[in-house]
Amino acid sequence: MNNSSNDSKKDKPKGLHKGLTSYGDAGFSLFLRKAFIKGAGYTDSALDRPIIGIANTGSAYNPCHGNAPQLIEAVKRGVMLAGGMPMDFPTISVHESFAAPTSMYLRNLMSMDTEEMIRAQPMDAVVLIGGCDKTVPAQLMGAASAGVPAIQLVTGSMLTGSHRSERVGACTDCRRFWGKYRAEEIDAKEIADVNNQLVASVGTCSVMGTASTMACIAEALGIMLPGGASAPAVTADRIRIAEQTGATAVAMALSGLTPEKILTGKAFENALRVLLAIGGSTNGIVHLTAMAGRLGIEIDLLQLDAMGAETPVLVDLKPSGQHYMEDFHKAGGLRAVLRELKPLLHLDALTVTGRTLGEELELAGPGFAQDVVRPFNNPIYPQGSIAVLKGNLAPGGAIIKQSAAHKGLMESEGRAVVFENIEDMAERIDREDLDVNADDFLVLKNIGPKGAPGMPEAGYLPIPIKLARQGVKDMVRISDGRMSGTAAGTIVLHITPESAIGGPLAQVRNGDRIRLSVSKREISLLVSEAELAERMQQNPITPPSAERGYRKLFLQTVTQADQGADFDFLRPENFTEKVPRPR
Ligand code: FES
Repeated sequence: MNNSSNDSKKDKPKGLHKGLTSYGDAGFSLFLRKAFIKGAGYTDSALDRPIIGIANTGSAYNPCHGNAPQLIEAVKRGVMLAGGMPMDFPTISVHESFAAPTSMYLRNLMSMDTEEMIRAQPMDAVVLIGGCDKTVPAQLMGAASAGVPAIQLVTGSMLTGSHRSERVGACTDCRRFWGKYRAEEIDAKEIADVNNQLVASVGTCSVMGTASTMACIAEALGIMLPGGASAPAVTADRIRIAEQTGATAVAMALSGLTPEKILTGKAFENALRVLLAIGGSTNGIVHLTAMAGRLGIEIDLLQLDAMGAETPVLVDLKPSGQHYMEDFHKAGGLRAVLRELKPLLHLDALTVTGRTLGEELELAGPGFAQDVVRPFNNPIYPQGSIAVLKGNLAPGGAIIKQSAAHKGLMESEGRAVVFENIEDMAERIDREDLDVNADDFLVLKNIGPKGAPGMPEAGYLPIPIKLARQGVKDMVRISDGRMSGTAAGTIVLHITPESAIGGPLAQVRNGDRIRLSVSKREISLLVSEAELAERMQQNPITPPSAERGYRKLFLQTVTQADQGADFDFLRPENFTEKVPRPR
């Protein structure tokens, strides 16, 4: 931090003096504020210290954040040991299984809540306690816009359970066992037994799903303590990280280390590189695009694809591999990955400690023998986990998690079996008279950002039951929605523009031929341009709308997947940088 920048901050209000409530008399505003906070028993000496806000997302509806009370206690300890004054405050909490119609519908609302509460309340820095899929991106989007020094803390992953001596964890195994139950390979008693074992403790999903991906991304961005991504929720390591996070927040408050100094184009390039190397969730792209967008940084999907060609998947975790997050932590966590990627990273990117990523890696010392993070020259998949597709079906792009797809289906052509929306799919997919074969392509429309709305994780269409019974485990599935980071299969997602606003996907009909070529990065509807144009004329699409409330705001302002599905009014007018840059 240079001196002139320090000087310019000298006169800015700090602590309780920040953001005074408007009564037209600043002295009175401060007097009143102090009077009220003293009602909680604080002394002037406590109130004169740097104030560290702690965003509390604990909620009975969010078991992924079930350890929030212990983390808050540890963060407070860290803050006070470093001479600060901790103040926790609630924000919206969003859990994947307790948010209708889908958690993604609420991510932007949570980001607005986080941003405005950081801005409205006096704090010199903020600790963001998140974890479950949408919470970390929401908090980082909000913090990036608020511009107050911020540090991410995650709740940490849950423990794995055991079903009949087989190790299981949410949620790759949730899907695997549910698939077995649908195929009548296991009975109702066994699926009920599994249900008790899949989530063995509080904490986030135990595989490289979206929560783990976003934790790793936050560490790669430098906005979390080095080593902070992987410790499971119920470990002493997690509590220690929380205490250190509190202490670091005080240092950040004193030095004025604001998010835009950390979340730079280089930091986002590092994070994209890590996303590819960890076999991360496809949702990571949407969230990184939204986060970068808040800072005027655009993610170039084609360059991301090029980056994938030189970035192998190194982490052997489900769903791309076989291990769980607790194994990843014991293997050294993200630092083991960063060491392998070192020649490809921007080591001069700044972190929350005030040191660079390269300096932090030096401090962490050498790695050790383990079998979860592979060496660069012996990866579990030779390219990055995610490929970007284009073609007349997705003029704005689409993605596929190639590391979790079926090899035999990645170069294929098939007949479209079309579902118009989620309700249509739910109603027909298991009917015995559904005209479907194993080599058909299942197409689901209207699950994009505006379609469902909220771009739900319904892109992982179930295998029709009559095919599941025959042993079919994977089919090509295509939609404008997302899928859970814990899911696997040959699944084309994020088709842009989405069908609900008239993208070509809206015009796909039963029996059309579609070609998927991951090697050529192609997703094509094999229908002539003239035929497609005629269909568009015959079948004009009216985008969905709503009468009132958040749904109205959402439908009017949500952007497409290639812009992070953020609200347009939360993104800057001018973008100043595009990443990844061509190498
Ligand atoms: Fe919360 Fe998976 S449901 S992380």
